[in-house]
Amino acid sequence: MHNNPLPRIDEQPEVRAKLLPLCRLKPGGMWTDSVSGHRVACIDAADASAVSSLMDRKLASLAIQDPPYNLVAFETRSVRDYIAWARCWVTNTLGALAPDSSLYVWLGADQRDHFQPLPEFMILMREFPIQARSFITVRNQRGYGTQKNWMAVRQELLYYVRGNPAFNIEAEYTDIPKTLRGYYKDVGGERTENLERGKRDTIRAGNVWVDIQQVFYRLQENVSGCYAQKPLKSVDRIIRASSRPADLVVDFFSHSGTTLLAAEIAGRRCYTADVDPVYCEIAIRRLEHFRTSGKTGWQNGHAFEKELPASMLPHPSDTAADRSTQPTLF
Ligand SMILES: C[S@@+](CC[C@H](N)C(=O)[O-])C[C@H]1O[C@@H](n2cnc3c(N)ncnc32)[C@H](O)[C@@H]1O
Repeated sequence: MHNNPLPRIDEQPEVRAKLLPLCRLKPGGMWTDSVSGHRVACIDAADASAVSSLMDRKLASLAIQDPPYNLVAFETRSVRDYIAWARCWVTNTLGALAPDSSLYVWLGADQRDHFQPLPEFMILMREFPIQARSFITVRNQRGYGTQKNWMAVRQELLYYVRGNPAFNIEAEYTDIPKTLRGYYKDVGGERTENLERGKRDTIRAGNVWVDIQQVFYRLQENVSGCYAQKPLKSVDRIIRASSRPADLVVDFFSHSGTTLLAAEIAGRRCYTADVDPVYCEIAIRRLEHFRTSGKTGWQNGHAFEKELPASMLPHPSDTAADRSTQPTLF
């Protein structure tokens, strides 16, 4: 049994060629889910008319965008080109959002290149009629680094709002028990400490999330072939905090379909997209697999295992796929 039986599709053109005929969507195509009304479109997030066809005049109350970060694992371009491209998909995102809505953007900062594109993206966002609300950091368990630098374990998540969107504070509570005493304050003439003041026994996530397990091959939610999968728990937290049941959630960079699946589980509708037909197919199959098996991913299997058993795939030791974690950067 191999840890990640399907190699990274972006690095394996011959595997990609085998997968393409198995994909329901061609570029420009859209799949509509007959069960919950989700949509998956094979489109470019920067293409205004394609996004408008996907939305079909519906407005979402939440967007969760996870674009390529312009770092090594993705095709890189100049920061200027990256920001010009981001301006297009952010414009399309705001066009898809309701007057009271939230936008979350996952983004990276390249410490070997003046932390691009994070600061440029933050400055870009000042052009838009949207308020910055929080700058969240998700702490990964595994990181990368050298003996001469701090280990890089962070994922950045920007939170913006328009109007007066939902925020359900219950979703912010973690399972981490309150243990630290000692923050004393006088309340009504009585000296109290933090453990007696709080209503709950567990701590709030705050804007540094330390309770999220990074996806790797041992987890059920692992989707092999994907290289940038976000943990379901992180997206579930965003959806439950910043939308209401039956709301519409959008994600124009679907990849493994984490937002689609999290929306299904939380009882929201999701319109999602990816420019690559293979990731669109993986997202649809992940949803279908969840409905038939109750499983959130394939752990050591993969989305195409019926048509492409291991014997038809390159041996993982011949590829970069047998790594014990999924992404090291994202
Ligand atoms: C960082 S991954 C998203 C990961 C996702 N949140 C998950 O949990 O699986 C970025 C995805 O964006 C897709 N992508 C890149 N450029 C795109 C574009 N112009 N329009 C739509 N999707 C694009 C890539 O194919 C890739 O699947």
